[in-house]
Amino acid sequence: MSVKISDSIKYIGASVYDLDLFESQYIVPNGMAYNSYVILDDKIAVMDTADKIVGEQWFVNLKAALGDRTPDYLVVSHLEPDHSGSIKAVCDAYPDINIVCSAKAKAMMPQFVDVDADKIITKNEGDTLELGNHTLTFVMAPMVHWPEVMFSYESSEKVLFSADAFGKFGAIDADEGWSCEARRYYFNIVGKYGAQVQAVLKKAAALDIKTICPLHGPILTDTIPEVMNLYNTWSLYEPENEGVFIAYASIHGNTAEAAHKMKEILEAKGCPRVAIADLSRDDIAECVEDAFRHSTLLCMAASYDGGVFAPMSDFIHHLKSKTFRNRKVALVENASWAPSAARAMKAEFEQMKDITFVGDTVTIKTTVKASDIEAMEKLADALL
Ligand SMILES: Cc1cc2nc3c(=O)[nH]c(=O)nc-3n(C[C@H](O)[C@H](O)[C@H](O)COP(=O)(O)O)c2cc1C
Ligand SMILES: [Fe+2]
Ligand SMILES: [Fe+2]
Repeated sequence: MSVKISDSIKYIGASVYDLDLFESQYIVPNGMAYNSYVILDDKIAVMDTADKIVGEQWFVNLKAALGDRTPDYLVVSHLEPDHSGSIKAVCDAYPDINIVCSAKAKAMMPQFVDVDADKIITKNEGDTLELGNHTLTFVMAPMVHWPEVMFSYESSEKVLFSADAFGKFGAIDADEGWSCEARRYYFNIVGKYGAQVQAVLKKAAALDIKTICPLHGPILTDTIPEVMNLYNTWSLYEPENEGVFIAYASIHGNTAEAAHKMKEILEAKGCPRVAIADLSRDDIAECVEDAFRHSTLLCMAASYDGGVFAPMSDFIHHLKSKTFRNRKVALVENASWAPSAARAMKAEFEQMKDITFVGDTVTIKTTVKASDIEAMEKLADALL
């Protein structure tokens, strides 16, 4: 797949199409792209390497972009192994190359690769690297989403190399829109660091950006304003859509039945958007994404061993670790003898910031009865 950026900025990334899980937890039905770039000028800069699983292909791409030239700099924006897999190979192949990275990356480098510290040039906020007609200016992006992360802005062509920010799941040629898989990527991988994303967005706003080159997903051009808007909403922890996400955890199907009934009720009452997920079966990362996306989260779960059925506690644990906040939450529980699910769920949400509980918690005793539907109708009114 050839990806065109410009005559002097070349794409040398590689994609995989059969990865079982990205980072051992995220399904990637449309594969995964490990992006990397080369800037060809009087001096040549390689912008990151890639995961070792695409190491061979990446090196072929690098050599094709270089022709008979040798690179002068390897700019390392992020040390996570999905981008640092070939640092050592590059240093071995091009002994005169210098690595350019943040001071934090230099300090962390020995954990990832064994490179000669004398080869490393560290850069601070606003420092530059002259390549000839091209100049890189470095923008520190600590905790977006690792401490050593650094963006690079190339001012002659107005290109922002944004590390993992603005990336998505999916191969480089995946035939799909940006926002769904970018949102799933954002909330699961970067979501905890909204404040740090806000800080770097403010710095990016001061730059004239024509192209964004992230480490995953497509190169962005025309859609930059929409992408920036979404990142702003997401990192402020503001809901993107008014609506309800119904997340249910059901052992024998009664709570599932109630959840689908609740969806019907909400839709009939004109709720602008209703999404539903079975926490036992659906992709948990998609569920985390949907929880952040909507203004209201309705958790419906069976009681279990004096607490709540595990797929729900696991889901809430994920939300907590991604600093879920600023949402309305409503609860429905099911129980056959001593209801315990709502109490367990509430105790978790009470530890999160800016959570407003809405409506009266509904307790279903095993099967869904007319009185439960009535209570759910009332709860739906409170959610709208
Ligand atoms: C292993 C196990 C533990 C349970 N623990 C409780 C409990 O602590 N309190 C309770 O009232 N019901 C408990 N239940 C019963 C279920 O919560 C109850 O049958 C509920 O109606 C199941 O809803 P569902 O059809 O959506 O799975 C437990 C069920 C199982 C299988
Ligand atoms: Fe990363
Ligand atoms: Fe990454």
